[in-house]
Amino acid sequence: ATYDEQWRPQVHFTPQRNWMNDPNGLVYLDGEYHLFFQHNPYGNVWGHMSWGHAVSKDLVHWEELPVAIPEAEDIAIFSGAAVYDRDNTSGLGTAAKPPLVAIFTGWNKSTNNQSQYLASSVDRGRTWTRYGKDPVLNIGSTESRDPKVFWHAESNQWIMVFAKAREHKVAIYGSKDLKTWTFLSDFGPLGSEGDVWEVPDLIQLPVDGNSSKKKWVMVVSVNGGSLYGGSGMQYFPGDFNGTTFTPDPLPAVTEPAGEVFADFEGADYGGWEKTGDAFGTGPAHGSLTGQSPVTGFKGSGLVNTFLNFDQGTGTLTSPEFTLNKPFITFLIGGGNHPGETAFNLIIDGKVVRSATGQDSEALRSKFFDVAEFKGKKARLQIVDSHTGGWGHILIDHIKFTEAVVNDMEFKTLWADFGKDFYAGVTYSNLPTDDKIWIGWLSNWQYAGQLPTYPWRNAQSFPRKLSLKTTPEGVRLFQEPIEALKNQRGARFSVQNLLVSKVNERLMSAAVRGKSLEVLLEVETASLQNVGLKLHQSSKEETVVSYSPLAERISLDRSKAGEGSFNIGFPEVHAAPLKDVGSTLKLHILLDTSSIEVFAEDGKVVFSDLTLSSPSSDGLELFSTGGDAVVKNLEVYELKSIWK
Ligand code: FRU
Repeated sequence: ATYDEQWRPQVHFTPQRNWMNDPNGLVYLDGEYHLFFQHNPYGNVWGHMSWGHAVSKDLVHWEELPVAIPEAEDIAIFSGAAVYDRDNTSGLGTAAKPPLVAIFTGWNKSTNNQSQYLASSVDRGRTWTRYGKDPVLNIGSTESRDPKVFWHAESNQWIMVFAKAREHKVAIYGSKDLKTWTFLSDFGPLGSEGDVWEVPDLIQLPVDGNSSKKKWVMVVSVNGGSLYGGSGMQYFPGDFNGTTFTPDPLPAVTEPAGEVFADFEGADYGGWEKTGDAFGTGPAHGSLTGQSPVTGFKGSGLVNTFLNFDQGTGTLTSPEFTLNKPFITFLIGGGNHPGETAFNLIIDGKVVRSATGQDSEALRSKFFDVAEFKGKKARLQIVDSHTGGWGHILIDHIKFTEAVVNDMEFKTLWADFGKDFYAGVTYSNLPTDDKIWIGWLSNWQYAGQLPTYPWRNAQSFPRKLSLKTTPEGVRLFQEPIEALKNQRGARFSVQNLLVSKVNERLMSAAVRGKSLEVLLEVETASLQNVGLKLHQSSKEETVVSYSPLAERISLDRSKAGEGSFNIGFPEVHAAPLKDVGSTLKLHILLDTSSIEVFAEDGKVVFSDLTLSSPSSDGLELFSTGGDAVVKNLEVYELKSIWK
């Protein structure tokens, strides 16, 4: 492979060819980091699930090896873990040659049963032998998968966690030999339930770097109805005693404060003006699952149809109101033909903000950042432009609220506020005490539609995890591993630069590029927004923006480039970012087709794919509402890991 196709990541692992999803079996042994991955060796779509394999000496440069565990006659090889069985507890190696043991889900292709299976290797992961007397753990379910195993010294046993996917539970089992497993407890449901829970991990980390003060974290991937739709990751700090995981209390949920402009349910148009030719109250359409990240209300049970434009187009326009707060949030449930529904904010007869409708998977929240229009009179509008058949827009519940971000408490602790970080799991048997994980840099909502060839999907850059005490509680922090520094090439830097409110372009050749590392420290005083435009050109940009007023950071890929393949792609993703103080710190890892943003030493992280044109390679700093003082900006070109 030449690794030089359009959108081929230069500092992230991708298979030479074909489909990849979850990272599997992350284990270190004898100077090598193994990365196994869900792989279809025969095509660029999900299928023939097997464990692909790559090795690395530094977690940065990868050598792809032949498929390690191929799909078999009886089972497809789903996600799982690998451990180094140092004391040969499993008997699958010898005392002189302890084995690597892979513990994975076998998906029985005729019965759909999902159970846990073993394979072992005594030649540094090069060849694998199926145990043969498995499954070692079968609970008789078609939805029990993704084992993660670690040695728990305190209770002198192996611990396995796996997902009871539809029950939104993590099962915890114990074993002395990896072959016989005893049920210990179940965790969940809690936090974000989505459609399914998948790929759990249970890890222990020092709090604030203090190794005598450790805490456990349960990590759960959620598919269907995650923060911005599709798949995402949440975590629960807590305690594990060898049997039971006890989560700390979750953050409280508060409704956004501020005026509620409309809160429709059923066929109530809330006094809004109707124009157009078709309004109805169509049939109830099934119950929704998922939960809004903004308020606590649940989608399930909302069966009345609020908006149903039958066989025609229509517009609903709100009465005029004055904009007072920096955000308007709206929560939408239901909907189909989503691309033909628009939610607009109108000032002086012009659409100044617009969002397209959503898919029908779950309740979603969207928002408009309206800080710059403070004091202006505005209207909200819902527009349907679908002219085809019947029943094309069904929206169960919509609620517009004026809000400040401080009110937008997230009940769920999301590990990542972008849309493209999933199935993240930690390395086992690392030579240091570090906890490092890799996640799948994609989203089930559109992973199969990404226009890349001859491979599909990448893994995240490896991230070091830590726990830190914040005013809101103990939180997970993530930063790219140190070895990223070895990829640094040409450097551009400025100190104490004044960025005027008219965008100042940093256009020197030294700061162009598709694969860049950006370190920014910028003073935030008296600004409305400050940030960076990346992969920038006259027609495209990916915007990272922070609003000190709203204490909110966002990543806008709606104009990043190609995104027409799925309505869930060209979007803005946002997160609360509090207690920043006078200087905002951003660490950004930009690659050919992705952006990973680590804000405030990794307190808030965004991972988003972006598919920009080759010529969109500019970088621009901007501020609104005042001059920004850039204390320090360092940009490094990143050398390709494939050359
Ligand atoms: C998560 C997942 C796992 C499963 C694997 C199948 O992305 O759905 O639950 O084991 O992918 O490829």
